[in-house]
Amino acid sequence: PNPDRIAILDNLMYDNGTDPVPEIKAAMLTQFTRRGPDVFANIGSAQEPDNCILQKEQYITFGLKKWSKCERTNTHDIDTYLLADGAPPREIENDEDRTKRLYQGICAGCHAYNMRMIGPPTLAIQALYHKNPEGIANYIADPHKIRPDYPPMPTQSHLSEELRRKVAEYMLEIQK
Ligand code: HEC
Repeated sequence: PNPDRIAILDNLMYDNGTDPVPEIKAAMLTQFTRRGPDVFANIGSAQEPDNCILQKEQYITFGLKKWSKCERTNTHDIDTYLLADGAPPREIENDEDRTKRLYQGICAGCHAYNMRMIGPPTLAIQALYHKNPEGIANYIADPHKIRPDYPPMPTQSHLSEELRRKVAEYMLEIQK
């Protein structure tokens, strides 16, 4: 959910932004524009300066202020993105770190903090389950369909009861 070092090189884009989702429409209003952007970067990590775009002026963009101009123009010299020696094993420092990684690695793929992604925003869930981590832990073990305009949420019963509880507490605590 939080990609680093995005590089957008030359792309052909057309017919973009004619029917944007409500969140993008709201962002367009702040820019007095009636055409949606070709490239939209959400606030947060997408603002990190390590992202680049080759020819920003070719597209209508939103939220790319801090993006630099890419140094490379193509990927001809890249055969693989795999690391030559593989990745070193991940060091999990403590329980807190494990919970955070679990949330970032699973839940945040569908739940963004304050906007609709695949699932409802975390902020909305925090309001619904205020002081009730147990409720979240139970729901995610056996999710049932609630919102007609969302897909069903897949079960998280692969997580132990303890981890479900911890990730639920974490979901209620996070602030961005
Ligand atoms: C593959 C996408 C996906 C993943 C991964 C996912 N969710 Fe969800 N989640 C959804 C969707 C979609 C809904 C809305 C379901 C509905 O309303 O029918 C939802 C709804 C919820 C709700 C709201 C239940 C309610 O009563 O309204 C909670 C709480 C929740 N998810 C917690 C989590 C937690 C915690 C994790 C990580 C362990 C997680 N989700 C991972 C897609 C996902």
